Amino acid sequence: MEVTTERAVLYLDLTPDVDDSLTEVITGLSSDFQVLPSKLFYDKAGSILFDQITKLDEYYPTRTERMLLESIVGEIKEELPDDVILVEYGSGSSEKTHDLLRKIDSISTYIPIDISREHLLKAAERIKMDFPSLTVLPVCADYSARIDLGLEDVASEQFAVFFPGSTIGNFERTDAINFLVRIREMLGRGGHLMIGVDLKKSLDILLPAYNDSLGVTAAFNLNILAHINRRFDSNFILDHFSHEATYNEIDGRIEMYLVADVDMVVDVGDCSFSFRSGDKICTEYSHKYTLKEFEVLADQAGFDVTRAWTDEANLFSFQLLVAR
Ligand code: AVI
Repeated sequence: MEVTTERAVLYLDLTPDVDDSLTEVITGLSSDFQVLPSKLFYDKAGSILFDQITKLDEYYPTRTERMLLESIVGEIKEELPDDVILVEYGSGSSEKTHDLLRKIDSISTYIPIDISREHLLKAAERIKMDFPSLTVLPVCADYSARIDLGLEDVASEQFAVFFPGSTIGNFERTDAINFLVRIREMLGRGGHLMIGVDLKKSLDILLPAYNDSLGVTAAFNLNILAHINRRFDSNFILDHFSHEATYNEIDGRIEMYLVADVDMVVDVGDCSFSFRSGDKICTEYSHKYTLKEFEVLADQAGFDVTRAWTDEANLFSFQLLVAR
């Protein structure tokens, strides 16, 4: 662990291991059910494509959550203590946080956590400029692993973790519980978790959100192959794969795949993988919950749901959980 001072803001560097991805790619492609790690969506081009997805007419989650948050921020403030330390997991550009910081003046400290050092520090410096009296303590870390902020003297009730965007939906059920358990351990009893959770809904709304008419989600999905080609000296031909997003009723999730359109052999590092036309690589799950299902999941991780707000059309929820 290192505290670094040569930037405009002090930051804590937990030096996350960002280079185990080649092993994950090879392991994922070697399995009978082929998978690629979703984190590889987010290279520069992928982050731009994801940003475009969030603005699509068909992709309801981002704008619905933003509007919901706007309308409930006063109520959230009332549920929180007088002096709040806000911790954001996977803060990225901290865009959604601006609104919270503007409207919840009881937040005295902001701790954004992100694996991408440059992104994190740029966003933290911007926040510090916009909110000069706020203490901003960025932490460069992999938030999917256990994080120790070393703030044992602070009362747990003061902590509020912000995890918007329904990113929890991208975890498989057991991983979601384990992830929430790690947050609970970091928070301690009485700590708060503010989390965005996407809800189950009609397939007429759900499927177009992941199969948009402009093909942005398809480009986002295929870009994972371009990213792997660039990083790991592989030779995927993007035109030989198609995007597929379907809803799995049993597991309550959107499943995204890349489907091989032809027979081919692809080299990745020192390995070669044969694909037959029709073979699928799973790139992402996006779980959808009912309020009850999420309450059960939260309970299994040791959280009580204090409030669960939804938009009028019941598309999305924003929930306040308290650690037991
Ligand atoms: C980041 N995550 C919540 C998005 C989702 O909806 O599961 C990722 C995404 N994949 C395709 N479109 C958006």
